[in-house]
Amino acid sequence: MKTTTERNKAVNVRKGFGIEDAKSDVYLAGFEFDAELPIPAGDEHYVFDRRILRKVNNFLDNPRKDFLWMAGDAGAGKTSSILNIASKLNYPVVATNGSEDTMVSDFIGKTDLVNGNTVFTYGALAKAMKYGYIFLLNEMDRIPPGRLTVLHDVLDGLPLHIDETSETVVPHKNFRFIASGNSCGNGDDTGLYQGVFALEMALNDRKRLIRVPYVDKEIEHKILRASEPDLEQCEGADVVEKMVRLANITRDRFLSGSDVDQPLSMPLTTRSLRKWAGLVVDYADTDNPLREGLEEAYTDSLKPEQRMAINEIAEGIWGDAWGGNSL
Ligand SMILES: Nc1ncnc2c1ncn2[C@@H]1O[C@H](COP(=O)(O)OP(=O)(O)OP(=O)(O)O)[C@@H](O)[C@H]1O
Ligand SMILES: [Mg+2]
Repeated sequence: MKTTTERNKAVNVRKGFGIEDAKSDVYLAGFEFDAELPIPAGDEHYVFDRRILRKVNNFLDNPRKDFLWMAGDAGAGKTSSILNIASKLNYPVVATNGSEDTMVSDFIGKTDLVNGNTVFTYGALAKAMKYGYIFLLNEMDRIPPGRLTVLHDVLDGLPLHIDETSETVVPHKNFRFIASGNSCGNGDDTGLYQGVFALEMALNDRKRLIRVPYVDKEIEHKILRASEPDLEQCEGADVVEKMVRLANITRDRFLSGSDVDQPLSMPLTTRSLRKWAGLVVDYADTDNPLREGLEEAYTDSLKPEQRMAINEIAEGIWGDAWGGNSL
């Protein structure tokens, strides 16, 4: 693995991130591209949110002793925002997903037997600290809090001691720690996310929080048009607006939980919306590409009564063109 050096490449916010209303002379500090570093590939159709970009960049520039917590609902865009910002800045990332099975060795590393020899493999945190990368810990609030105490000292800028190798890893100046989760760190207060833990106070107190809401309608229109340029030609000029409208209704129902007649176990996220749009284009020569695509991308995973409810919403939006309730 290779170590990062100086962030001396200037990345223009307007040109590099496509933020059209940014002043033409605003630049962010990135690294020169280096194929040997684990720089995320990035999504060519990613649309950046100016507010999130500004806050993430501010953290990357000057983390002090904080870590960054991206909080938001399922599929809102927490992980992808970090990966895509890092990609544009050529900032290397080591990412891992937390769960109730996550062990401290996933962070620090472990010894394996390879061809009769013992070999120590660094965990994600140790790698990021040693080489100066972003450590991205997705779903951090799914990890039992007691396993996260290793992070307290690290956030205070103290070195990480690896018992197995007796190595002391001093945090590199480019090391950053970013986490994501559905909660804001205080446990799930919505009832939507079971299995979410509250962070220990000591850790909760060291975070900066960015709330990531579902993507703005206008941004989502842009995402669909950019990722599926043939969509409007196949289904008409208003298809994007209608699909996004349906997605937003499902999100409202999901977030209302049991307060609505037909609660939804999962919303149509930006991820599934893009999947749906892609399938509509793939199925352009079938009788009903919109319905077939939606079934495969979303509704067939739902319970029958939820499927019916979505079908009714779609009929309300598309009228007879949707074609009866047989979902
Ligand atoms: N601004 C955006 N531009 C383009 N695509 C986006 C954008 N935001 C989200 N997406 C799409 O939505 C997908 C889901 O986003 P992401 O994985 O970041 O969500 P998440 O909040 O981390 O979800 P989870 O709770 O499942 O971890 C992305 O892979 C991407 O396809
Ligand atoms: Mg995620």
